[in-house]
Amino acid sequence: MSNSYSAWLATAQAIITEASPLLHRAWGQAHTVHNKGVRNIVTESDVAVEQLVLQRLREHFPDHAITSEEAGAQTSSAKVRWILDPLDGTTNFSRDMPLFCISLAAVVHDEPVVGIIHDPLRGHTFAALRGGGTTLNGQALHTSGITHLHEAMFAVDWPRDETLRRTMHGLTGKILARGRTLRALGTAALAMTYVATGWLDVYAALSLSAWDQAAAGLLVQEAGGCAATLSGAPWTIHAPDPLFTATPQLLTAFRRLQSEENDA
Ligand code: IPD
Ligand code: CA
Ligand code: CA
Repeated sequence: MSNSYSAWLATAQAIITEASPLLHRAWGQAHTVHNKGVRNIVTESDVAVEQLVLQRLREHFPDHAITSEEAGAQTSSAKVRWILDPLDGTTNFSRDMPLFCISLAAVVHDEPVVGIIHDPLRGHTFAALRGGGTTLNGQALHTSGITHLHEAMFAVDWPRDETLRRTMHGLTGKILARGRTLRALGTAALAMTYVATGWLDVYAALSLSAWDQAAAGLLVQEAGGCAATLSGAPWTIHAPDPLFTATPQLLTAFRRLQSEENDA
């Protein structure tokens, strides 16, 4: 584990701590909501958090590149890139549902080396360093030891696209038939993070972006979990279809589940 990764994490944590009250204060208030696309919105708070975090990242890391959901990618050949989702769970936030977070990762050649997920309402700061483990407010975290589908708590996200949504619906039928239960939290980053904490055991999605999963994917890996994809390709931060499991046994069992015939 590099010393610079630890220093980057400390700086990133300070930046997120400064940004956190913006979401805490705005939650439950009236919002300005714009439609970005089908079932896809942005509020004033996505933009406010993004502006603050981008400003601080540029001050502290002038040589690093940045990609952020609303502002897009800053083109640069820099080896290090920060990837920000200023508000994951915008639909929940816009409806006053208390499930949303900030996600920030540093990636080196697209491999996440620092990850932070912050839940402003609960004061949860989840953090990971490549090779250095995962923590919740400083306490070490580990995935659950669950190995059987019938014991496993699953979470998925519903894609915005209708065709992908039907595909996910087919998969959830199999999950419900074999698994213990199934959640859809409306915040991909927190759901993945909850696999790292051992509160959930499997997470799957079909249409994510790098800012949804760069930080949380590292949290799961560093907490002892498995990172894969629904298609069977290796997981990268750009995979649209991540699959995270608490244990290798659950990953093997999930592969068998995927290959089963649909009941319908
Ligand atoms: C969304 C949430 C949602 C997931 C979507 C994401 P946003 O992020 O994580 O749970 O289903 O795919 O785009 O728009 O709230 O940042
Ligand atoms: Ca997101
Ligand atoms: Ca977002």
